[in-house]
Parts: sequence; C-alpha cells; structure tokens
Amino acid sequence: MIEIKENFSLKKYNTFGFDINCRYFASFSNEEELKELLLIHKNKNIPLMVIGGGSNILFTKNFNGLIIQPTICGIEIINETDDSVDLRVGAGENWDSFVEYCVNRNWGGVENLSLIPGFVGTCPIQNIGAYGVEVKDVILKVETIDIESLRKQEFANTECRFGYRESIFKHDLKGKQVITYVHFKFNKNHEYKLNYGNLNEELQKYESINLKNIRNAVIDIRNSKLPKPEETGNAGSFFKNPEVKEAVFEKIRQQYQDVPNFKQSNNNVKIPAGWLIEQAGWKGKNIGNAAVHNKQALVLINRGNATGAEVLYLAREIQKSVNNQFGIELEMEVNVV
Ligand code: EPU
Repeated sequence: MIEIKENFSLKKYNTFGFDINCRYFASFSNEEELKELLLIHKNKNIPLMVIGGGSNILFTKNFNGLIIQPTICGIEIINETDDSVDLRVGAGENWDSFVEYCVNRNWGGVENLSLIPGFVGTCPIQNIGAYGVEVKDVILKVETIDIESLRKQEFANTECRFGYRESIFKHDLKGKQVITYVHFKFNKNHEYKLNYGNLNEELQKYESINLKNIRNAVIDIRNSKLPKPEETGNAGSFFKNPEVKEAVFEKIRQQYQDVPNFKQSNNNVKIPAGWLIEQAGWKGKNIGNAAVHNKQALVLINRGNATGAEVLYLAREIQKSVNNQFGIELEMEVNVV
C-alpha cells in the first residue's frame, strides 16, 4: 500500500536545503507502485513532478502538486564477458554508491563521475558529466513508464539524444516519462580518461593508476572546490558552460589573453562560466542569503535561510553582468520550479 504524505516538507529533498512544502509526496519502489501513483494522479487536477536526489533543482515556492520519488533498488548483471559487463540498475540507487560499487568490482567507466550527488534514475536526464566523461558514454538504454498510457518503454542510447547536459528527457519527453531503470556497459579492460584539468597532477600523489585511485583523486579535487550539500546548500554548477562562435571568442581573447577555453568539434569554443562569473566580479559575493561560492564561481550557495527566489535573483543579476561585460548569455543548468 502506497503512502501519500500531505503538506510534506522538501527541506531534505532538495540540496539547496530550502524549507518549502509540496501538497502531496509519495515514493515508489517498483513499476506497479509507480503505475498506481500515476493513476491516482490522473484523478487529481494537479501538477506532477518526479525527483531524484533533488540535486539539480531550485524551488522558488511551495509546490502545489504531487511529487514522486523512485526508491527502486537493485543492480542486476544482464550480461558478462571477459571484457565487459552489462547492468540494469534501479532508478532509486544513489549515484555515488553505485560508482563505488563498480569501482570496487574493477568495472571501469564511471570513476571520473565520483561524488556527483543524485540518483541513478536522474543521471540520464541532464547527462551528468565531469573530468572528461559523460554518463552517456556508458549508458546502453533507459527504461521508463509513459505517464499518459502507463505503458513500459525503452530508449536506446541514440534515442536519448544526449548532448552536453542535455537529453530528450529535458525536451520532447519532459513531464511525459518516468525513468525506472538505466542499463550500463562497463569495461574490464580499462581506458582511463585523465586529461581533464589537474586530474593527472592529482594522481601523482598515488603510487599507481587504477580505478580506486582515480575515484579518490576525483573526490579530493571535488572536495577542494565544491561545497558539500550536507553542509552548504547548493546544486553544483548553476549555469552551463557557454559555447560561443570562434569570432566571439577571439574578440574576448584580445582583451583577456588568459581566457580558458575548450575548442569544440564544430569550431565553436566553450568558455568556463565560472571564469566569466569571476571576471564579472561575483566570486565570493552575496546578495542577502544567496551567494557565489568563493572557490568555484559556477556554484551558487544558500548561506542558510535563503529562499529560492533570492538565489534566482542572484542568478539573474549574474546573467546581466556577464552579458554586459562579454555579450554572452549564461544558460541555467539547474531546473527552476
Ligand atoms: N574557473 C575560474 N573561476 C572559477 C571557476 C572556474 O576561472 O571560479 C575556470 C578555471 O580556468 C578552470 C576552468 O574554469 O580551469 C574550469 O573549471 P572546473 O574544472 O572547476 O570546471 P567547470 O567547467 O567550472 C565543469 C562541470 C562540473 C564538473 C567540472 C569538472 C559544467 C556546467 N560543470 O565545471 O560539473 O564537475 O567541469 O569536470 O559543465 C555540475 O554539473 O554540477 C558540476 C559540478
């Protein structure tokens, strides 16, 4: 029997730690419970939202609808050879515990994605990425339940239309499907990806290079610049790193010779949003209880008691400054509700 809670506090369900409520809240531990919840929802004329770890969401006010959260567990081996292993993983599994599980078994592919907050079921939505790896690199397919028809569906990797912090689940299928399981393929013959930033340098502290040490190095780097959500409310990168035309980049470089940049295959250039925000003078600054993290300007934080509206106001002021100074529009990565 599913329990639907009323006027439920979301303080522990959003990593910004905002003290807001939703009208109804329920979790589901299997597909049947999910279908039951979706049927109940059909008879109420209210909005529906699915949340995972609440690590990429900014609530600006109470949510007058039903929030559902997967608690579907389980890591099942679907196929295993000498070279690789295919897994089917429940949407409710904690992402980082899952990464640790794979690293402990010496299955390679997600070690660079260590310590990212959130659930397995939400990792495909924004195609989580860090240190030169994106989760799309290891996803085989995604299982869902269609909200309208309650039918089970599967989306192969290419059908998910993954891009930089993008997928079909953020666009055409937004609000239409609930992810129940994600299938992954991991390698037993490892191809380490160590070229991003100072990952290689951090690994020099270790005697050898293996999945466990890469995981630990990534954890150390993340801990040195990203605030821990349990201590300081935040949702990781607040904005996406913008991609600009080569000409725009060259114009910026004339004035700022050291502008960090990543050339893309289409000749566009990606400029770190954290750099743009720092140049615009926002690093470590605050407006009321909302602030820009002092070690990574891409992260907005709740200094305690901030509201979502305050953080959103700060974000918009940052967007204006960066636009005035560089003519670049920063796009929010966080989902504003
Ligand atoms: N930079 C600054 N000032 C800052 C922050 C960054 O000048 O305050 C510049 C530095 O030149 C630095 C460069 O930006 O070398 C890149 O910074 P960093 O390595 O911290 O990465 P990022 O581009 O800011 C992205 C992801 C992170 C991910 C890291 C590492 C996005 C939106 N963010 O950040 O993802 O952990 O790379 O791969 O792409 C997240 O999505 O929540 C997240 C934390």
